[in-house]
Amino acid sequence: MDTSLSQTKAKSSGDEVQEALRIWGRRPLSGNVRISGAKNSALVLMAGALLCPEQCRLRNVPALADINRMGQVLEALGVKLQRRGDALDIDASTLTTSKAPYELVSQLRASFFVIGSLVARLGSARVPLPGGCAIGARPVDLHVRGLQALGAEVRIEHGIVYADIKGSGGKLKGAKIYLDYPSVGATETLMMAATLAEGETIIENAAQEPEVADLANFCRAMGAKIRGAGTNTIIIVGVPRLHTTDYSIIPDRIETGTFLVAGAITGSEISLSPVIPEHLTPVIAKLREIGSEIIFEEPNRLRIIPGELQATDIATLPYPGFPTDMQAQFMTLLSLSEGNSVVSETVFENRMGHVPELVRMGADVRIKGENAIIRGVPMLSGAPVSGTDLRASAALVLAGLAADGETLVKGLHHLDRGYENLEGKLRKLGAKVERVTGNW
Ligand code: EPZ
Repeated sequence: MDTSLSQTKAKSSGDEVQEALRIWGRRPLSGNVRISGAKNSALVLMAGALLCPEQCRLRNVPALADINRMGQVLEALGVKLQRRGDALDIDASTLTTSKAPYELVSQLRASFFVIGSLVARLGSARVPLPGGCAIGARPVDLHVRGLQALGAEVRIEHGIVYADIKGSGGKLKGAKIYLDYPSVGATETLMMAATLAEGETIIENAAQEPEVADLANFCRAMGAKIRGAGTNTIIIVGVPRLHTTDYSIIPDRIETGTFLVAGAITGSEISLSPVIPEHLTPVIAKLREIGSEIIFEEPNRLRIIPGELQATDIATLPYPGFPTDMQAQFMTLLSLSEGNSVVSETVFENRMGHVPELVRMGADVRIKGENAIIRGVPMLSGAPVSGTDLRASAALVLAGLAADGETLVKGLHHLDRGYENLEGKLRKLGAKVERVTGNW
């Protein structure tokens, strides 16, 4: 895997040198920001490429630490990868093992999604449990139960998930699967597993996120028979083999939402492209509700014209509800909105790590259970803060853009996982941001 992309290794605390973003706040932004390919599509499409015995090409693949990590997982399975600019050639013609390496899977939850492709392609998979992270326990019971419904024998021993197709013939069998929760990952794992199963699989209460539909479109481009992706019922009719394709990944709706908030929180008119507006319906609706004007400009550009920030309430929900991956960023915006707001995080059990850091910057936020009560304040003040997860770090960068004075956002290994060249894109819009090293 070409590792020329900047990889910020996770630094342990203590006297080791760390990277941080130094941000000087209250500078207006202007211009257009280019949106990268969707991280959460690229990661799962890389897992989907394991289904194909011929080389495939993915385009619009963002340069992110997580993409590099997923590439290392695939290479450990025998896949050959070649980066060519924003394209990634994936040759899974000769897989050498069905065992995904513990040290890599434990660093990247999304790599667990290879389990569906491995079982479908090889008849067996040995994938370490991804384990929890800052935002929650992140169980995989829905993935496991779905694979069992498809005819795999699944057991968990010493932190490894062993999945093997029962009996001879080595094929999964189509089944009707109801997901207790519309899990994005479980929907994607089971859709991939079902593409090569015998017969028809129906996934009910499926996740409807755009990244699920993107995976389905990629698999269909390889010859899979899938319909209904993007709705709560997905039907897959197994095929014996997939074939090569050249596929372009959708733009990242969460990066788009993050930059829309950057415009709103700094009172700046900016434009963003490429964008698929319908992927952002709940975010655009809430931005309009709190006073921003959002204009769609042909063919794929959004423009935000900010207004006086008003309070509102947010509840994160599975798509098409308000995305949990935008909760931290939007809370930052509401911390400066006139009036009282309530933010309810219903998807993950521990996704409020940004709150104490926002409070250190002068925000008035109190957590009660899954709800955060926010009283808008006129101004945030710059301070040294640390991101606890990817979106919390993004929220703190947004806070720094709006705050009075200088903010130092530590924990960049989180940020580099999910945002391609964030500081470069912000600088291009006129922000005063620089990446610095030190041992804070
Ligand atoms: C995907 O994670 C995304 N990651 C997450 O983005 C995103 O926040 C999440 O979907 C929700 O939209 C990738 O696509 C790589 P889930 P995933 O399974 O698939 C519970 C980011 O910031 N659950 O929909 O892991 C789970 O505990 C990341 O880009 C089970 O109980 O999310 C959670 O409460 C963060 N059992 C809820 O479902 C299971 O087997 C939603 O999880 C699986 C999930």
